[in-house]
Amino acid sequence: MILTLLDIPDMMGVLKGVVMEVVDCALPLVQEIIPTTDPAVAFKDIDAAFLVGAMPRKPGMERKDLLSTNVKIFKLQGEALNEHAKKTAKIVVVGNPANTNTMICAKYAPSIPRENFTAMTRLDQNRAQAQIASRLNVVADKVKNVISWGNHSATLYPDVANGTVTMGKDKPTSIEAAINNNEWLSTEFVQKVQKRGAEVIAARKLSSAMSAAKAASDQMHDIWYGTKPGEYISLGVISDGSYGMPKDIVFSFPVTIKNKQWNIVKNLNVSAFAQEKLALSAKELEDERDEALAICAKM
Ligand code: LMR
Repeated sequence: MILTLLDIPDMMGVLKGVVMEVVDCALPLVQEIIPTTDPAVAFKDIDAAFLVGAMPRKPGMERKDLLSTNVKIFKLQGEALNEHAKKTAKIVVVGNPANTNTMICAKYAPSIPRENFTAMTRLDQNRAQAQIASRLNVVADKVKNVISWGNHSATLYPDVANGTVTMGKDKPTSIEAAINNNEWLSTEFVQKVQKRGAEVIAARKLSSAMSAAKAASDQMHDIWYGTKPGEYISLGVISDGSYGMPKDIVFSFPVTIKNKQWNIVKNLNVSAFAQEKLALSAKELEDERDEALAICAKM
């Protein structure tokens, strides 16, 4: 693996420290590390990209408050990817507002298939899975097929309706039956996951780092190696109109992945309550899209 690390000139000293840390990890797969300020060097013939360079939000902000500053970065990175990256490159967008940044990045990289761009909504899925696991006193990997729908924002909808949990030596059972408290599932649980990013910022005075890095690597891992049989994951992808959602926004859907291609899982049971939440998130994404396109048109 060759790691190219792109940053702005003012951050080169810090990047040097990051390079030292990667070296000191003695990672068996890393052959070379190339720190650079030049997108042409950073994106040259790459197979995969994690786009993390964006202004992080501060306490009291919503992620969409970053749109006017960050969307410009993703237009420029889309253009650079378009020119320099392999057409097979897989791009995971982490910088916020991640869904809309992904839409813009893909738009300005028309030579790369749109399907190759995904927004990191895996962090919301991991958070939802962890909350269920902790409520049921099991480890997180006993909880399967929990989905985060929609935007990576306070309108996301964590959904357990089709999920299962394995307790002790028992066979997997439905999460709803195991929790046996629909009131908690539709209120406290949903709000906890929706506001977890803000909760982390309030505690750390910095936005999430370790959990975001883990989610980004989980997402790229599954894009690369596929999902496990019988399991699906949440992925922010360009909507094809599935589940009645508008097209051409980047929306988190349940997907399976095989041979590096994702497919939206169809015909899952979506309650009227859930459908209402999905529509709210879709409306927010349409508003973000319109604002982002207007900003990019002025650049
Ligand atoms: C997160 O969800 O932790 C990140 O997207 C950072 C943030 O602004 O919340």
